[in-house]
Amino acid sequence: YRSLRIALLGAGSVGSQVARLLIEQQHELAARVGAPLELVGIGVRDVDAKRDVELPRELLTDDLETLVAGADIVVELLGGIEPARTLLLEALAAGADVVTANKALVAAHGPELFEAAAVVGAHVAYEAAVGGAIPIIRPLEQSLAGDRVTRVMGIVNGTTNFILDRMHTEGSSLEDALATATALGYAEADPTADIEGFDAASKATILASLAFHTEVPADQVHREGITGVTDAMVQQAERGGRVLKLVAICERVAGEDGADRVSARVHPVSLPGTHPLAAVHEAMNAIFVTAESAGDLMFYGAGAGGPETASAVLGDLVSMARRHVAGGPGMPVSTHANLGLAPFADVLARH
Ligand code: NDP
Ligand code: HSE
Repeated sequence: YRSLRIALLGAGSVGSQVARLLIEQQHELAARVGAPLELVGIGVRDVDAKRDVELPRELLTDDLETLVAGADIVVELLGGIEPARTLLLEALAAGADVVTANKALVAAHGPELFEAAAVVGAHVAYEAAVGGAIPIIRPLEQSLAGDRVTRVMGIVNGTTNFILDRMHTEGSSLEDALATATALGYAEADPTADIEGFDAASKATILASLAFHTEVPADQVHREGITGVTDAMVQQAERGGRVLKLVAICERVAGEDGADRVSARVHPVSLPGTHPLAAVHEAMNAIFVTAESAGDLMFYGAGAGGPETASAVLGDLVSMARRHVAGGPGMPVSTHANLGLAPFADVLARH
């Protein structure tokens, strides 16, 4: 099968890690997909900017439109609405598949992107948009598609969890903890999105839309961030054995007229120290899903961070690439590619 042309938009906290892994693990990924994943370019604002991860200079470009035009799969890690929205619509119109971690974009323009994809038989994948490394989109979209989800709730913003955790455990100020979260690559380019709850509200929009098979507009999500949380409030919670957390809650609510409605909200809550969410530290996320037949499910892991989020992005990319190979001419696809690992019998013989 021919190489698949991958256009990467963005080389920040997440994009630089995706680029690194695509380059370092190219042979392993090619074996898994059944075709080479050729990174044809990396779109950035400033090709000469100093970066934490060294990237091949010849791949960097500030001409994102041209980069997108020749791609089989476009991976969008720019953030924000524009130019991401326009570039992805152009990519989809040209028949490319799209992978994005951009929750703000999916929450505000998801239906527009999905429709553009459907017109040409392309796909949009966004596992990294909620929960960082945690698989939560696909479980809601696929694994639980036959069940009746009644509630999705949890910690979905790593930066605010990191800040509140540092305020509790180290007595840090909100500002100092935010500066550390930013240096660690957890915060949005404009961290107002984190601390004012916009990022968590975008994620609640996505989770509620998937869980309840409906379109929940972002402006219908009640939003309250953590900027109102003071040191005194943290200390008061501590004295009562409680912990402050920013939580998203999406519920199916029975209406008085007999029709179910969706409630989605994001706000700080004071939890007993024994609550499972109280044990979610640093930039970790935890999401509880309740479904009528499945009962209670819990998803936990790194909610932010470059390498962690790159894992989810690459998972989507490999799935997309396999779809290309399966739909392409000729070659059968095996997901059990020979990676050159020692067979079990051999491993056992050596012990
Ligand atoms: P960064 O701000 O670190 O990186 C953004 C990248 O996009 C930079 O390389 C920047 O170029 C480039 N870029 C931004 N705007 C433009 C533009 N107009 N034209 C060309 N290039 C542009 O973002 P992150 O890597 O942190 O996040 C990327 C996406 O992933 C966002 O949607 C974010 O919400 C999402 N996400 C982030 C997570 C995280 O932990 N950081 C976790 C989960 C999702 P240059 O380098 O030249 O400035
Ligand atoms: N800024 C986001 C967070 C990145 O802190 O959760 C992950 O979506």
